[in-house]
Amino acid sequence: KCEIIIDTDPGQDDAIAILLALASPELDVLGITAVAGNVPLTLTTSNICKVCELASRSNTKVYVGSDRPIKRELFTAEYVHGATGLNGTQLPEPSMALQEQHAVDFIIETILSRPNKSVTLCTLGPLTNIGKALSKAPEIAPRIKELVMMGGGLFEGGNVTPVAEFNIYVDPEAAKLTFDAGIPIVVMPLDVTHKTLTTKSRIDAFRALGTKVGTASAEWLDFFERFDEEKYGTDGGPLHDPNVIAYLLKPELYSGRHINVEIETESALTVGMTVADYWRVTDRPRNAIWMTEVDSDGFFDLILERLAVFA
Ligand code: BDR
Ligand code: CA
Repeated sequence: KCEIIIDTDPGQDDAIAILLALASPELDVLGITAVAGNVPLTLTTSNICKVCELASRSNTKVYVGSDRPIKRELFTAEYVHGATGLNGTQLPEPSMALQEQHAVDFIIETILSRPNKSVTLCTLGPLTNIGKALSKAPEIAPRIKELVMMGGGLFEGGNVTPVAEFNIYVDPEAAKLTFDAGIPIVVMPLDVTHKTLTTKSRIDAFRALGTKVGTASAEWLDFFERFDEEKYGTDGGPLHDPNVIAYLLKPELYSGRHINVEIETESALTVGMTVADYWRVTDRPRNAIWMTEVDSDGFFDLILERLAVFA
């Protein structure tokens, strides 16, 4: 089994990623850590719990993390996800218990106490908790098996500024700490996620599951796709975050290049940019596998097949 920690800021696409992980027997979800991002921390935390309860997995360990980026004010994305972060469907207020330990300490303690290179970090939001864990306990870096993140963009540019993607833009200092730490990193940038679009027929397939999870997923995606469809005229919205989990389950769905990626933290014009050396024009060290291609039908088939296990 692959032991994972999911660090997340739900978000409808984060919610589907969490469901995909909880549905997959190959993955052992050691804990889910909340970070402020799409909406403030109190909402991302309760959204994680709502999703766990929807999946009847209220025994999942959920940890409260950082309520703001390392050095900046929090920038949120209600304009995409709605006021709750999970607009589209109404779920009951969660009643499951939260863990007392802070998310940052849970991440550190887990990586130090599990066997060397056994824990995979899955990041679906701003990298604040990871950056803080790396600053507080740099000795965790060589013990991490892999960090798979949704973040950044190269050929697709940015979705907050012309060059910055949301998760990196919100906390570029944390992203820089992460990319500079020497961890094996796999990146699912907008170059991939803009290819996994929630077309009408894909959303209908979730609805046709005829389950609580299927209906909630379809309603979330109905809401979530409106933003991109209205703004860009695409056929559906990009289902970003589940790419991180799908990669762990079926890496053969993806292809990319091992390259150097640096994070811009200074320039007012380009802050949050992932400066990805795709053509290897520098000799800077290769610190990340930058994915660009995805089998999007295979991706949606996988999610659908897995989510079918829920009642
Ligand atoms: C990322 O930002 C959030 O809005 C999504 O949940 C995803 O993690 C896409 O840029
Ligand atoms: Ca997210």
